[in-house]
Amino acid sequence: MSEKVIWITGASTGIGKEIAAEFSKAGHIVVVTARRKSRLVSVVSEIKFAGREATAFVCNVASERSVMLTAKRIREKYGRIDCLVNNAGVTVFKSFVDTKVYEFDYVMEINFRGALLCLKSVLPQMIKNKKGHIINILSVAANTVFEESSIYSASKAALLSLSNSVRKETRRYNIKISNILPGAVETAMWDSRTRQKYKNRMLSPTDVAKIAVDIFNQPKKVLIEDIIVRPIRGDI
Ligand SMILES: NC(=O)c1ccc[n+]([C@@H]2O[C@H](COP(=O)([O-])OP(=O)(O)OC[C@H]3O[C@@H](n4cnc5c(N)ncnc54)[C@H](OP(=O)(O)O)[C@@H]3O)[C@@H](O)[C@H]2O)c1
Repeated sequence: MSEKVIWITGASTGIGKEIAAEFSKAGHIVVVTARRKSRLVSVVSEIKFAGREATAFVCNVASERSVMLTAKRIREKYGRIDCLVNNAGVTVFKSFVDTKVYEFDYVMEINFRGALLCLKSVLPQMIKNKKGHIINILSVAANTVFEESSIYSASKAALLSLSNSVRKETRRYNIKISNILPGAVETAMWDSRTRQKYKNRMLSPTDVAKIAVDIFNQPKKVLIEDIIVRPIRGDI
């Protein structure tokens, strides 16, 4: 396959970082974005050390200006964005009653509104070019109920619903929208005690990253719409 330009949000750590590594190994140009510049620099250094092309831009998905500017900078540098991986995300593990309204705003602003802004920043050009791929990293929490995850679940369900509607409007332009719904993955999203306890049971970030690349590598006329991936022993 010829080299494509892949924009991965939230690529400074965890799943996003591994998605960048896997797309890079598959021969693509990766653009990694997040808020922490020092971490992005080390992600890009690792990729460049292996002789591949990568660029980092600081991008806070909570800021419309930051998202639109980042999309513009990627297009200026590479001429196009072939695939956007909406991966940036946060959570608050608390009961609904204990969750403060500002925490609700924070999770929705990044997980839902942030992804919506990124979609808006790439779709007009994809529609014009009559091609493009968006891969959303959602969660099994989008359609499974867990205690102390109500706001997180709501944010992922909102993005699932939005993406399914947008897919209906954009598939006529050959634009693919794919949702990955992973179960527990061993990343910094979990506190150290939970990671320690379940690390042998959780998925690895690479497991999810390889699935993202597989979804992207499907033939032109094939669209994988939704993938649910859980650890073999189920939810933790
Ligand atoms: N871990 C799991 O069990 C699991 C399961 C299902 C789905 N997911 C989803 O997978 C995605 C990645 O999470 P992870 O598990 O890899 O956790 P992680 O290591 O904490 O990564 C989260 C990433 O999001 C970025 N981010 C947070 N706020 C941001 C903002 N305002 N603007 C831009 N980037 C921002 C962080 O970078 P900066 O802090 O540098 O900005 C970081 O790179 C999330 O959407 C999460 O909901 C995780």
